[in-house]
Amino acid sequence: MSDSYLASLFSLDGRVALVTGGSSGIGRAVARALARAGARVVVVARGEDALVATVDELTAEGCSAAWVRGDLSTRAGVRAAAEEAAAVFGEPDVVVSSAGINLRPPLGETDDATWDATMAVNLEAPYLLGQRFGPGMAERGFGRLIHVSSQQAHRAFVSSGVYGVSKGGLESLARSQAEAWSSRGVTANTLVPGFVLTPLNARLQSDPARVEALAARTMVGRNGLPDDFAGAAVFLASGASAYVTGQSLFVDGGFSAH
Ligand SMILES: NC(=O)c1ccc[n+]([C@@H]2O[C@H](COP(=O)([O-])OP(=O)(O)OC[C@H]3O[C@@H](n4cnc5c(N)ncnc54)[C@H](OP(=O)(O)O)[C@@H]3O)[C@@H](O)[C@H]2O)c1
Repeated sequence: MSDSYLASLFSLDGRVALVTGGSSGIGRAVARALARAGARVVVVARGEDALVATVDELTAEGCSAAWVRGDLSTRAGVRAAAEEAAAVFGEPDVVVSSAGINLRPPLGETDDATWDATMAVNLEAPYLLGQRFGPGMAERGFGRLIHVSSQQAHRAFVSSGVYGVSKGGLESLARSQAEAWSSRGVTANTLVPGFVLTPLNARLQSDPARVEALAARTMVGRNGLPDDFAGAAVFLASGASAYVTGQSLFVDGGFSAH
């Protein structure tokens, strides 16, 4: 009885999901969660080895998964990856934009190339994917756009300069996408991590004192792990979140709450 109730809320059976950055860190954990909840999942990134390893892992667990190699740093790259991904299992019902870069020069040292690269991957790619898939989702009456932003969308932090600007834009993008399509069953929301132990911040992790200090800033008392995003991602991808749209969901151990 409880299984069928939970399935009616959260099952992703019959859904197709596209997860950018699904070969590493948070994206990989989200791809696995969506696949284990029943979705057929296409992961998109540049590095083939990590893509293959991810899909092999999911397939070994009995999930349906495929990979598409794509570079989301150019408009042409995003558009090509979107078409290739949609050709695998069909048009996606769920699009998760987890691919992101943090080049980290402080704002005063930022050059045009850093601005362009950051905005292209972190903000323009999610926008273009929304433009490509949002209208079709609205026509079909169901869709889920899920973005991954950052504490830096809300506060300047660790001197990452324009990274925070891109993430602030991303949360605004989710609100505008929500405004555009929510009346036709398409929600758009953002997951907001704290400090999560992934390859993205390998350099920061090499300083144990910084890692410890960041953990101490949470209420839970530890830094985030990719699997901390599994439940929130399934919720935002599922029917259960139909009345949740334009929101930022902090999955950060309470980092932002004090
Ligand atoms: N880790 C944290 O503490 C933290 C905190 C706040 C927000 N976030 C956000 O969470 C998201 C995931 O980060 P993560 O920590 O999981 O990072 P990660 O482990 O470095 O994963 C990043 C993913 O994005 C892909 N990617 C990067 N550039 C790409 C491009 N040009 N085209 C296609 N794919 C690209 C990477 O694959 P390839 O390199 O093979 O392309 C990889 O799959 C990012 O948006 C990040 O900003 C992370």
